Amino acid sequence: MKAMVQDSYGPPDVLELRDIDRPEPAPDEVLVRVHAAGVDQGTWHQVSGLPYLVRLVFGPRHPRVPVPGLDVSGVVEEVGARVTEFRPGDEVFGIGKGTFAEYTTAKTVVRKPANLTHEQAGAVAVSACTALAVTRGVEAGRRVLVIGAGGGVGSYAVQLATAAGASVTGVCGPSKVDLVRSLGAVEVVDYTREPLTGQYDLVVDIAGGRPFPVLRRLLTPRGTLVLVGSEEGGHWLGMGRQFGALIRRPFWTQRLRAPISIVRRAALDELSALLADGTITPAVDRTFALGDVPAAITYLRDGHARGKIVVTP
Ligand SMILES: NC(=O)c1ccc[n+]([C@@H]2O[C@H](COP(=O)([O-])OP(=O)(O)OC[C@H]3O[C@@H](n4cnc5c(N)ncnc54)[C@H](OP(=O)(O)O)[C@@H]3O)[C@@H](O)[C@H]2O)c1
Repeated sequence: MKAMVQDSYGPPDVLELRDIDRPEPAPDEVLVRVHAAGVDQGTWHQVSGLPYLVRLVFGPRHPRVPVPGLDVSGVVEEVGARVTEFRPGDEVFGIGKGTFAEYTTAKTVVRKPANLTHEQAGAVAVSACTALAVTRGVEAGRRVLVIGAGGGVGSYAVQLATAAGASVTGVCGPSKVDLVRSLGAVEVVDYTREPLTGQYDLVVDIAGGRPFPVLRRLLTPRGTLVLVGSEEGGHWLGMGRQFGALIRRPFWTQRLRAPISIVRRAALDELSALLADGTITPAVDRTFALGDVPAAITYLRDGHARGKIVVTP
């Protein structure tokens, strides 16, 4: 099968389109014919091996799985000996082990809602599960500020908080203002033109880069700040902001959370229901060919992606 393969960590062009053996599903896995595979910031961490902390997961010297990519939507081709839930031909989405390929093996997948294309379903798992975790417990009438609203996680966070009945303000750059409004935000702040003002019950900081005192001023006295991401944490741990939050937490009256989201089937089932009834819809900006994964990663890293981007083999 064709796959994007990396022998070492490095910039996106370490990836090469090659013919490799099709993977064999373990007893609890399915083999999926990939129709679409989402790209997110985690993809870049997988390819670059940065910050170095991620190599504990992906492999210390070179990637243990030489094909990157987690998000997937596709069709079950084969099932492992212990799998009873799926049969060949079933359409599924979730995460797989090396999805920038024609086939991948996967354990954490659920049935794809029929109303979704594979391109849409392949753009769900990592970003939407993160957004679900950070917006959980949001109540109707609450004021929510989503910083980084036009990106992968943000495009789902705006929709999920809006669906919960919150009044959402989205913060993004000028090229994403119309997208964020279309996702349900009642107010959109273009951070290149206007300062952030007001007070919010929940501030979801996906973009990073703003000092804690600035974010704290945006919170109501009993509000919550959730730190989702930031790409400025350095080459070693990459978690400077999360540690900064831990140190500050005891001194704040407001709540401060820095969750690490893990994609689980229960969350995918929950999202599947919301996707099936149209409560949320993946915002897919562009589709790239399998051999163009390096261009896709660069497009995302340069901040161009409006919502999500996907790769189709
Ligand atoms: N904690 C977890 O479990 C978890 C899970 C998934 C992802 N993450 C992290 O979350 C972060 C975002 O991931 P993502 O997939 O959503 O990335 P993304 O698709 O690149 O979205 C980030 C968005 O932030 C916007 N942005 C950049 N500078 C900004 C600023 N100063 N103010 C407001 N918005 C700004 C970008 O575009 P514009 O500037 O054009 O608006 C972009 O739309 C990454 O650091 C990722 O590693 C964490």
